[in-house]
Amino acid sequence: MNKQAKFSDFEALYAKVKSIADTGDDAMLRLRAICHLLKDNVPHYDWVGFYFVNPENGNELVLGPFAGEPTEHTRIPYGSGICGRVAISKEPLVIQDVSKEDNYLSCSVSVRSEIVMPIFRDGKFVGELDIDSHMLAPFERGDLDFLGRVSTLLANLI
Ligand code: SME
Repeated sequence: MNKQAKFSDFEALYAKVKSIADTGDDAMLRLRAICHLLKDNVPHYDWVGFYFVNPENGNELVLGPFAGEPTEHTRIPYGSGICGRVAISKEPLVIQDVSKEDNYLSCSVSVRSEIVMPIFRDGKFVGELDIDSHMLAPFERGDLDFLGRVSTLLANLI
C-alpha cells in the first residue's frame, strides 16, 4: 500500500478544471493553470504537462504548458518513449513501473511511473496529457476516467 492516502475526489477536481477551462484567458495560460491544479492537488501527480502534435511535420510531439521540473524532452519523435508510443497507438498508456520499460525517455531519476492520455479534436489526434509520478504503481481506473474526461474537455484549447 502506498504511504500517501489515495486521492479520490476527482469529481471536485474536474469541476475546478472546468471552471479554469471556461474562463476567457489565453488558452496556453489556462492549460498551464490546469497543469498546476492537477499537480498541486493529486499527491501522486509530480509532473503534469501537455505535448502537441507538431503541425509542421505531424510526426513529432512538441512540449506545451507543464507544471513540474523542466524536461529536456521538448520534442519527441513518434514512436520514441511512452509519449511517442501513444502518438502511434492513440490509446491511453499506463506504465506502473518505468524501470521495466525499454522504450522510455527519462525526465528525472525520481520518476517511477507514468500515464499518458491522447487528446482528440473532431476525431483528430492533436496532442497528449502526460503525467509522471514519483510513486510506484499509483494509477487506478479513477485516474484513467478523470484524465480521459479532462482531455475531452480541453481538446478545443489545443
Ligand atoms: N517519459 C516520457 C517523456 C516525457 S517526460 O515524462 C516529461 C516518455 O517516455 O515519453
